[in-house]
Amino acid sequence: MNASTTAAASAASIAAAASATDGTSDTGPASTMSAAVQRRYAGPEQIRVDAVPVPQPADDEVLVEVHAAGVDRGVWHLATGRPLVMRAIGFGLRRPKQPVQGTDVAGVVAAVGSAVTRLEVGDQVFGSADGSFAQFAVAKESRLAKKPAGTSMIDASAMPVSAVTALIAVESSAQVKAGQRVLVIGASGGVGSFAVQMAVAAGAHVTGVASAAKSELVRELGAERVLDYRTADVTALDETFDVILDTGGLTPLRRLRRILSPTGTLVIVGGEGGDSVLGGSGRALVAPLVSTFTSQRLMGLMSATSSDRLERVRELVEAGSVRAAVDRTYPLDRASYAVTDLADGRIAGKAVVTVRDAS
Ligand SMILES: NC(=O)c1ccc[n+]([C@@H]2O[C@H](COP(=O)([O-])OP(=O)(O)OC[C@H]3O[C@@H](n4cnc5c(N)ncnc54)[C@H](OP(=O)(O)O)[C@@H]3O)[C@@H](O)[C@H]2O)c1
Repeated sequence: MNASTTAAASAASIAAAASATDGTSDTGPASTMSAAVQRRYAGPEQIRVDAVPVPQPADDEVLVEVHAAGVDRGVWHLATGRPLVMRAIGFGLRRPKQPVQGTDVAGVVAAVGSAVTRLEVGDQVFGSADGSFAQFAVAKESRLAKKPAGTSMIDASAMPVSAVTALIAVESSAQVKAGQRVLVIGASGGVGSFAVQMAVAAGAHVTGVASAAKSELVRELGAERVLDYRTADVTALDETFDVILDTGGLTPLRRLRRILSPTGTLVIVGGEGGDSVLGGSGRALVAPLVSTFTSQRLMGLMSATSSDRLERVRELVEAGSVRAAVDRTYPLDRASYAVTDLADGRIAGKAVVTVRDAS
């Protein structure tokens, strides 16, 4: 039996265990699992738990027994198919290509493909998978890493997309240095909550922008000051920042440049709203063009989870510099509520869907 066959065989036995646990073994073949699915683009309230086949890992993939699955804005985009550009870049033109929702995952390796070299069955991992709101999910080995020591499955599952995006913004794009003045817009969100901590860990003086109700969290994460975007126009401040990391709202570039130092760096991570085609991504596309005419560095960011970035996140977590700010957890059959609460601004930091024991 080669390694691929081994993977398939062990996946089947795990599926049997899953079905037995669900009580479905009496009524059908032991090859299905519970998953939160959405088969057509619609509001996240349409996400429903259904029985679907247990996925099989390809040669370079790992089958993960999911314990917890983080929720991020991307889940809302993939479920709704908005903005429309999402559909054009490969996520499914007419309906979601991947009906099982969720990307971020923490769990235990249940089976490995024949080309997998770093991970083995039984390893506790975190990373990005295809459809993590489920009992099992497949993920490329290159998008997984060993879970940080001493971190719960819940906290680890909240990290992949948000912490990796923050890492790229703080360490790769802006290269934040000690003593710099850093403004994090959207500091109470998934990406922002990690970006604040990473900038503080680099020795920066951080100002966060968030709603007043979530300002205490942002201070706890290390921001020296928190400004409420609902009552103050941050771009009217009579001061400048060396770095601005923008993860919330759609403040025009020219307003942001007003409070950016002459050689400062602006990183546009994202922002909700905008038109139906590009959504909030328009500013990120324009920023590098404007950048060619000024001494300020203006850029967008395209995040991608990789094992080396996850390992850097693990290093920061194990050093005590960064933690996941998990606000609420939801069982799998309430996944739709998790996505809706996030989209409606009811989450401070991160929301997580729990699938098995996730302590
Ligand atoms: N470029 C990439 O590769 C990439 C990767 C990941 C995420 N993103 C994008 O980045 C954005 C943030 O993602 P996330 O997961 O961190 O979202 P999130 O958890 O929903 O956080 C959004 C943040 O924006 C704040 N906010 C909302 N409206 C605002 C406004 N008008 N002005 C200033 N701040 C405002 C929120 O503050 P309150 O909650 O306190 O109101 C919250 O702190 C999303 O648009 C997402 O799609 C892009």
